[in-house]
Amino acid sequence: MMTLVSDPIIIRGKTIKNRMTYAPTVKFDFAGDDGKVTQKHIDHYKERAEHGIGLICVEATAVTPEGRFCKTHLGFWEDGQIEGHKAITKACHDNDVVVLIQLNHTGITANPECGPAIGPSAVETRSGGLAHEMTIDEIHAMQQKFVDAAVRAKKAGYDGIQLHGCHSYLINQFICSKTNLRTDLYGGTPENRARFGAEIIQAIRAACGEDFIISVRTAGADPELADMIAVAEAYVKVGCDYLQVSHGVLPPDPTLVDGTEPYNLICSLGVHFHDHFQGRVPVSCVNSLFEPQQIKTLIEQGLVDTVDLARAELADPAFPEAVLYGTPFVRCFECKRCQYGPFTAHKCPAELKRRAGA
Ligand SMILES: Cc1cc2nc3c(=O)[nH]c(=O)nc-3n(C[C@H](O)[C@H](O)[C@H](O)COP(=O)(O)O)c2cc1C
Repeated sequence: MMTLVSDPIIIRGKTIKNRMTYAPTVKFDFAGDDGKVTQKHIDHYKERAEHGIGLICVEATAVTPEGRFCKTHLGFWEDGQIEGHKAITKACHDNDVVVLIQLNHTGITANPECGPAIGPSAVETRSGGLAHEMTIDEIHAMQQKFVDAAVRAKKAGYDGIQLHGCHSYLINQFICSKTNLRTDLYGGTPENRARFGAEIIQAIRAACGEDFIISVRTAGADPELADMIAVAEAYVKVGCDYLQVSHGVLPPDPTLVDGTEPYNLICSLGVHFHDHFQGRVPVSCVNSLFEPQQIKTLIEQGLVDTVDLARAELADPAFPEAVLYGTPFVRCFECKRCQYGPFTAHKCPAELKRRAGA
């Protein structure tokens, strides 16, 4: 039977009311140096929760102050940061929305204003120096930071967490053979490269219990698909409940699409993962989904289990209602005003248009 976008899906006993998720999108200038939730975060997520989305994954949140994107990045590195999140999780639950939070460390791509570049291997950083290669003790200490943050997330009312395992950040740096040159248990085969994330998953399960969703947003091809499927298999083996798929350090193998698909190369990574994991673990795709019919095609043709919406949701939180009920919405302009840090963030022309028309 055909699955509809409006059909629910159950993950770890939690019912997600439809097949659309709000993908993590960091708000570069909403937080202060203390990394705490502000009223701007609460208003932003509440507005999205009220307009039909099934699941919200709150933005990349730093597990240590050193692992932030910038000094105005949300954090979960200490208990004082828990309280503010309760208003976000309440707003989601009041609207029957399942809510996760994405946990992250920038690793080799660390912002020097926040901390040193560290990672699996001493590879070149964006600023031209060499990253510090993490010792085994440092790896274990870092894994514990993710677990501590997950415990805080549970206390704040989140239904689960998502590990940020794509887009060139620390967990992605471990799985990618360009950034992970290790010859010990944390490098080499895909299973070894997945070990850093897999051990975090195991420890979070032990700390947060059986009803806590553990998702990974992973690189679908970095650059090859088969390697990254083997990595994801290692995550699933230890209890990952839900895979959201995006890109990694390297551009994905371009032959993964033939150009006739109604979605792009990055989105196709989720479709390929779904082919592989179908019936075992739900898989989500992302990237440049701006038209209601695209969402319907991906779900109704059984190409993925859920779709992640980032810029469509930033442009207009009513986008899910447009998909479900055909109501009007303001389309993303596909400019880059939302993407590049504190100086250009939140000058989204679609949002300005929407607010002017409200
Ligand atoms: C402003 C902005 C912030 C983002 N922040 C995150 C983030 O915190 N974590 C993450 O995994 N991806 C992040 N992304 C990537 C999006 O989740 C998504 O993968 C990407 O925008 C492509 O989807 P879209 O075409 O629907 O926007 C961000 C994207 C934007 C535009």
